[in-house]
Amino acid sequence: MADKPNDVQIIIKNLWKVYGKDPKRVFQKGLQDKTKEEIQNETGCVVGMRDINLEIRKGEFYILMGLSGSGKSTLIRALIRLIKSTKGSITINGDDITRMNADQLMKFRRKTFGMVFQHYGLLPHLTVLDNAAYGLKVRGVSKEVRYAKAREVLETVGLKGWEDYYPTNLSGGMQQRVGLARALANDPEILLMDEPFSGLDPLIRRQMQDELVELQSKLQKTIIFVTHDLHEALKLGDQIAIMRNGEVVQVGTPEDIVTQPADDYVQEFVQDASPAKVLTAGSIMSEVPVITYVWEGPKTALTLMRREKKKIGYVVDQKQRFLGVITAKELERLLSGEERFKTIPTSSIEVVDTVTEDVLIEDLFSIAPKNPYPIPVVDEKNKLLGRITNDHIFESISNNEGGSDV
Ligand SMILES: Nc1ncnc2c1ncn2[C@@H]1O[C@H](COP(=O)(O)OP(=O)(O)OP(=O)(O)O)[C@@H](O)[C@H]1O
Ligand SMILES: [Mg+2]
Repeated sequence: MADKPNDVQIIIKNLWKVYGKDPKRVFQKGLQDKTKEEIQNETGCVVGMRDINLEIRKGEFYILMGLSGSGKSTLIRALIRLIKSTKGSITINGDDITRMNADQLMKFRRKTFGMVFQHYGLLPHLTVLDNAAYGLKVRGVSKEVRYAKAREVLETVGLKGWEDYYPTNLSGGMQQRVGLARALANDPEILLMDEPFSGLDPLIRRQMQDELVELQSKLQKTIIFVTHDLHEALKLGDQIAIMRNGEVVQVGTPEDIVTQPADDYVQEFVQDASPAKVLTAGSIMSEVPVITYVWEGPKTALTLMRREKKKIGYVVDQKQRFLGVITAKELERLLSGEERFKTIPTSSIEVVDTVTEDVLIEDLFSIAPKNPYPIPVVDEKNKLLGRITNDHIFESISNNEGGSDV
C-alpha cells in the first residue's frame, strides 16, 4: 500500500464493534443510526464502538479518554485485534490488520506492538528478569540475547538490581515498571497502555507519569494510552480523543480540549481542569512592543520608545538574543550626562528572569511578582519571542478557573 503523508501511522476508518450474537444484523436491519440503547433493546447487541475515524501519527502520545463503558478498551484491543471489529478498517504502517490471517497477525503483533495492562499481568512464579524477558522467550529468542535485552530495559525503567526478585517483593509502581520493561523488550513501534497507572496511589502515579514523559522523550514511540484521569491526559498527551457511548466526540490537543470543549459532555470532563495547568507561556504571550538593538544609540532607542508610548525596551543583540530590559528613564539619564554614548552600555541593561514557551502558566505565578516588567519569553537559544504581562496571565486563568487540587 502507498505511504501515507505526514507520518500518519495508524488510520482507523468507520470502525464498529458490536458485541453479541450475529452482530452484523445491526447493519442488515438498518439499525446503525439508532442509539446504543435502542440497538440493545431491539437486538440484545451492545455497541462497543460506533463509526470511529482517527489518525494517529508516528511518535505521537495519543490519549483515549471517556467514562466507564465508553469503548476505550474496546478500541485499544481492536488495534491489536484482541477484539475483532465488526466493520471498518484499521491500517497500521500501510497494512489493514482487520484483513490479516492468523499467521500474518501473529507476526505483525510481535513486531509492532507492546502492551501494558492495568493489573500488570506479571507471572508470579517468574523473577523480574524472566518476566521482562518473557515476550522474547515466546518469540524463541535465545536465553543469552533475551536476558541481555531484559537487563537493558529493566535498567531503562529504573529497576537495575531487582532482576532476581519476584513480583510479590515489589511495590505496585515497581511491578508496573516490570510490565513496561516487558513491553519495551520487544522494541515495539507502538505501545498500547490501558489505564496502566490507575492501580497506583497518587504520588507514585505522578512519579510514573514523569518517568514516562522522560522515557518517551528518548524513545519517541507511538503510544496509545487509556485513562480516566483528566490531568494525566493533559500532562501526557499530544492528542486526546474523548469517547462517549462508543463514539469519539472530540479529538484535539490538551489545549484544544480545555479551551474549546466540543459539547457538554467534554465540558463536564474539563470543568475541573485549571487552565494554569494546561496553557503555556507560548500560548498567551504577545509581541514585544519595543525591541531595542544593543548597537543603537540611546537617542534612537528613546525616540522609538516614545513613539510607541512605552517606558521600556527589550534589548537584543545581533542574533536577536535577549540581553535584558532598558528603561526610558535610564536612557534619559544617559543622554543628560557628560559622556556621549554611541551604543547602549551594558551597565544600563537590567537583567530579568525569562521563561521558555513551554512553561506552564501556573509556574509564572512565582515569577511574575518578582519581575517589575512583563516577562520575556525566549527560545532555547535565548532568542526573544514575545512577552507576557500580568494582564495576560489573569485573563487566561479567569475564563474557567476550577477548584482542582491535582
Ligand atoms: N465482551 C463483551 N461483551 C459484551 N459487551 C461488552 C464486552 N466488552 C465490553 N462490552 C461493552 O462495550 C462497551 C464498551 O466497553 P469498554 O470495556 O470498551 O469500555 P471502557 O471505556 O474501556 O470502560 P472502562 O473505563 O470501564 O474500562 C460497554 O458498554 C461494555 O458493556
Ligand atoms: Mg476499559
